[in-house]
Amino acid sequence: MKEARVAVVGATGLVGREMLKVLEQRNFPLSNLDLLASERSRGKKLEFAGEELPVKVLGENSFSNIDIALFSAGASISREFAPIAAKAGAVVVDNSSAFRMESEVPLVVPEVNPGDISWHKGIIANPNCSTIQLVVVLYPLHQHFALERVVVTTFQAVSGTGRAAVEELKRQTREVNEGKTPTVEVYPHQIAFNVLPHIDTFLDNGYTREEMKMVNEAKKIIGLPELAITATTVRVPVFVGHSESVNAQFKKPVEPDDAQEVLSGAPGVEVLDDPFSNIYPMPIDCASKDYTYVGRIRKDFSTQNALNLWIVSDNLRKGGALNAVQIAELLVD
Ligand SMILES: NC(=O)c1ccc[n+]([C@@H]2O[C@H](COP(=O)([O-])OP(=O)(O)OC[C@H]3O[C@@H](n4cnc5c(N)ncnc54)[C@H](OP(=O)(O)O)[C@@H]3O)[C@@H](O)[C@H]2O)c1
Repeated sequence: MKEARVAVVGATGLVGREMLKVLEQRNFPLSNLDLLASERSRGKKLEFAGEELPVKVLGENSFSNIDIALFSAGASISREFAPIAAKAGAVVVDNSSAFRMESEVPLVVPEVNPGDISWHKGIIANPNCSTIQLVVVLYPLHQHFALERVVVTTFQAVSGTGRAAVEELKRQTREVNEGKTPTVEVYPHQIAFNVLPHIDTFLDNGYTREEMKMVNEAKKIIGLPELAITATTVRVPVFVGHSESVNAQFKKPVEPDDAQEVLSGAPGVEVLDDPFSNIYPMPIDCASKDYTYVGRIRKDFSTQNALNLWIVSDNLRKGGALNAVQIAELLVD
């Protein structure tokens, strides 16, 4: 593996900090690491591999000596600075939604479509966190049984919204326990002790942008533009780990045992499926882990060739930081 000069844009954020952990834990071949964030972080230092590295303020000249720029500072920052970084010669791996559906930009999950990296033109997009864990499980099943239709409902952790939402859930939980009225800042309603069937903004078709991201991104990554797929995305008062209830229908006959066998050998997937021993994936067990966990694999008796599944993964890790670093590894390999 060659060594690369890497910049992390949004290094002080939830995904950025997880990226630093993942780069260190996977012993990524770095010749230099630049940490970039906003003016607010001027003077801050972050620990990496036993060293304190300064956080620099993102600017137009941040990318002159960078091979790979890992962006996780939101879509507007990506729209402004990713083209600048690419023009300066860096390959951008972008965690935001800014470029995911552009035909010139590969949308990559290394367990599914690593080959798509080859046609990048300076920017590679990292999919939405809930899409990544969905396709990591659906793709191996598709290879064996041919996907026909997918119905997915998500249960998404507040860390998916960023630092401010994590603070909001902590604060509201404290306020409710103290008998106070919770203050609502990040979401339109209280999230502590509640469930919101609303992630991102609503569109004219009645779906949210998050739901349409899942639909469109899954089709692009799996390479099935005609796939019948529909989503409902829900925010739940969990700190880390998105869960998904998935109904998947196939063209070929499939039994739960066949699916379990396929998924047991699938890259990045771990099967946790022994319901009579109370074994199934849960967010509290998946935090800080690299796998996408799947369980509750059972036949859908209401129709032909269909299964119900329960999928859980760490949204900051496989849903963001890990997937981006895996793409960076493919780039240097
Ligand atoms: N959270 C997830 O599960 C997840 C998963 C996949 C992808 N993503 C995507 O990753 C991105 C970041 O998410 P997050 O959860 O890490 O958010 P976050 O915790 O709120 O962190 C935001 C980061 O962006 C930086 N930033 C904000 N404005 C900036 C500016 N004007 N110039 C430079 N840096 C700026 C912040 O720097 P300061 O500290 O200086 O403010 C911070 O480092 C988003 O696009 C999100 O959609 C998130």
